[in-house]
Order: sequence, then C-alpha cells, then structure tokens
Amino acid sequence: MKTVMGKSKAEALKETGYIRFDLSSELDHPQSMEQFRQLAQEFEDMPLDPYNKKAHRYRRYSRGVILPWSNEFHWLPNYQTSDGKQLCEYYQGAYNAEHKEEYRAFSPLSETTKQIPLLTKIILHDYEQTFWDKRTLTMPIHVGVHFVKMFVSDPHAVSVASPNLVHQDGEPFTFCHLVERSNVVGATNLIAVPECAGKKREEVRPDQIYEEFELVHPLESYGFCDSMVSHYVSGVRLGTDGEVAVRSAILIDYVPTVISIP
Ligand SMILES: [Fe+2]
Repeated sequence: MKTVMGKSKAEALKETGYIRFDLSSELDHPQSMEQFRQLAQEFEDMPLDPYNKKAHRYRRYSRGVILPWSNEFHWLPNYQTSDGKQLCEYYQGAYNAEHKEEYRAFSPLSETTKQIPLLTKIILHDYEQTFWDKRTLTMPIHVGVHFVKMFVSDPHAVSVASPNLVHQDGEPFTFCHLVERSNVVGATNLIAVPECAGKKREEVRPDQIYEEFELVHPLESYGFCDSMVSHYVSGVRLGTDGEVAVRSAILIDYVPTVISIP
C-alpha cells in the first residue's frame, strides 16, 4: 500500500501528522460497495445530537476495542438506562471546550450496522496506520465510532461541528471517512499546527495551515495524529442544487487503555 510519494500511509502519518487517502479505490469490489450502501442506510434515521439541538447535527456513537496482540476488533456493550433506553457514553476530558469534563451519552449504532463487515474492515484499516509505544500495546486500544450527519434545509441555517473552533481531540488518533456530501456549501477541513488549537478559523494565519480541503467522494478520507496537528471543519450551508444539504461522515478515534485508581 504505497502513496504517490512512495511512502506507506502509516509512514506518512508518522512524519507529517496527517494523511489524506481514498478508501474507495482500496475497497473497490461489488461486495464492499453493497456493504457501503448498507452503512449509508444508518444515516437515514439519525437522532438529533441532544447536546446542541440548534446545530442541525445528527449522530450515533458506539465503542469497541482492538486487541493489539491478535488484531481482533470487538464491539463493547451499550449502557441501558433504568427506563430501558440504549445509550453509549462519550468522554473527552478537558479537550472539548464546549463540553469540558462532561460525559455525553449518544444513541448507539444499530446492531445491524455493527455487524457490517466493511465497518470492521475500515476500523482495522485505520488502526494499522497508527503508531504506539510498545507497552501500550499490551492493553486493548479503545475505539470510538461516531456516525455524524450535518443536515440543513433552511437557506439561513448552518450546521456546525462540535467544537466549532480549531481544536485537538485529546484522542491520540482520529480518522474521518466521507459517506455523503450533497448540495453543501462549506464543510471545509483545515489541518494546522498544534498551536492553533482553541482559535477561531479566522484567527489562523496562512503560514500555520498545513492544508485546507473538502471531502467530496464517498469514502474519501483523512486521518491525523492529534498531538502533531490541530483541526477544524467549517459549517454546512445549503447549496443551490436542491432543497437539502447533507454531509455525512464516519469518525473513528483510537485511545489507549489507562488504568486509573481513584
Ligand atoms: Fe475534532
């Protein structure tokens, strides 16, 4: 698996802190395409992000673990509330300025979606690009899988990401895979030097930017090593080509297991 510069994606990620790639060219066979259509189905019925109902953002979130010694991926169970609701908790510590030290709970992915082999394949593919201290790899790696849909139908509305600032996630590695982009103005990705974390987009100087781009094709992707860069995606507005704008993506983050004794 070589990039145009003759380097593997894993080598490029280690060197530059981020990579862009097109998974569709690597998964180009009919079975994968059929499974991709099944994955895209999950985005048809997405609950509104309960933590910002004005953000026009819809999401589901589930968690799993990779066992580094066997390269196996397993889903973790949902959390069931006393009234029988299935949830999955998400915690970013101090890293999300909009939700500092706060546990958020999202609706999980459906069991049907979790069983789609292509999703596990993508999770393991991204994991292969990451790099860790050898000692870390004696414990499971926690995997957070977010399905996020930004959707607007009102010409004055804008769907924004959380946080709506240039930031770092706190999770050592994150990958983003486009599922759909249609009739969208915006959703422009920015990768910048780590010092830009916490700034508004307009406060970032041109010499601090590594790259600015849009994901356009299904399964067009990027990934980054969080400590080496900061990142941002601009809001989604309605284009002139229809009545709705949709930008759906799968975000996958990788975090080491740390034993904490309170
Ligand atoms: Fe982020």
